[in-house]
Amino acid sequence: MVQTRPKESRGRSGDTSGARFEIERHTVSDGRSGMIADVRRGLLARPKTLPAKYLYDERGSQLFDQICDQPEYYPTRTEEALLQEIAPGLIRRCSAEEMVELGSGASRKTRILLDAMTDACDRPCYVPVDVSEEMLRSTADALRGDYPELAIHGIVGDYEKHLRHIPDADERIVIFLGSTIGNFTEIEGRRFLRALREQLRGGDHFLIGFDLVKPVEVLNAAYNDAAGITAEFNLNVLRIINRELDADFDLDAFAHEAFFNVKESQIEMHLRPATAQRVTIGAAEIVVDFAAGESVRTEISRKFTKASATALLSAGGFATEAWFESDNGYFALALAVAS
Ligand code: SAH
Ligand code: AVI
Repeated sequence: MVQTRPKESRGRSGDTSGARFEIERHTVSDGRSGMIADVRRGLLARPKTLPAKYLYDERGSQLFDQICDQPEYYPTRTEEALLQEIAPGLIRRCSAEEMVELGSGASRKTRILLDAMTDACDRPCYVPVDVSEEMLRSTADALRGDYPELAIHGIVGDYEKHLRHIPDADERIVIFLGSTIGNFTEIEGRRFLRALREQLRGGDHFLIGFDLVKPVEVLNAAYNDAAGITAEFNLNVLRIINRELDADFDLDAFAHEAFFNVKESQIEMHLRPATAQRVTIGAAEIVVDFAAGESVRTEISRKFTKASATALLSAGGFATEAWFESDNGYFALALAVAS
């Protein structure tokens, strides 16, 4: 069951005093027990894993934002340059008045599309969706100041559970940037795309970023930045579990590790203790033993080819209309249509 807090609404639709601004917050009524179940399942499994969405509290979102500025982390600047190239043509082609962004984060690259949209549309509306409440609220506030003519309808929620709350619109484009799709397994990704497709009308557009397979040194460097920001981002998940689930992970005992698994075509991020660890997760009523050197996998980040990306889209109910790839072949944006 979904509990919805009262919407905050300022400004009236069509009001000359300012565009509509509202944020709705959705939590699953078993929110904490959902996390408990996920953590219990993941840490009692062999190999041990944790869902990547638990990397993002306020600090996790800020650390991810800093990762985007690291010289080794090519995806953000590559996708940004592609968006600069294609945004005006894309917005004209889709003629959408509503743009929904899944996993919007700081909406930094989104501004390129918002610039094009506010130029082209009379009543543009932006719908950011993110689990990270603080990040969504501060971003929506900043956008409100910078784009007074833009209606904003923020949704704090889980895009695996709350897609039905996306407001309906005649012409809509959904965007999913950063290759966040790569943080799902193939099966999870298909399930996610099908659920998204169910919420859309035939003909709605979907713009999605795909990080592409490339030399392994480039990939490994991107997830092992010299400044150690990715390591902090990774370790933050233990801090979150300690705080939220009354656990006692010793953060100093776990080391960040990220490497490209060629066979699975994915970066894997792990936390690995050098010595045996016994961890009590109070809220989950479990004690977890780590042997020396036994890791917990905290994230996968799959790397695609044009063929694997378009096949995934097709399995999810989307036909690829256009494929935009950076000159160095590092990153691509697919414009798909709900078929
Ligand atoms: N789109 C941005 C941010 C990517 S980081 C970019 O391209 O740079 C991934 C974002 O997805 C984070 O802001 C995180 O909070 C959000 N996120 C992760 N799992 C989520 C989930 N299950 N539901 C909603 N948002 C999620
Ligand atoms: C959000 N996501 C696409 C990032 C990625 O590259 O998989 C998260 C990240 N993890 C480590 N660095 C960045």
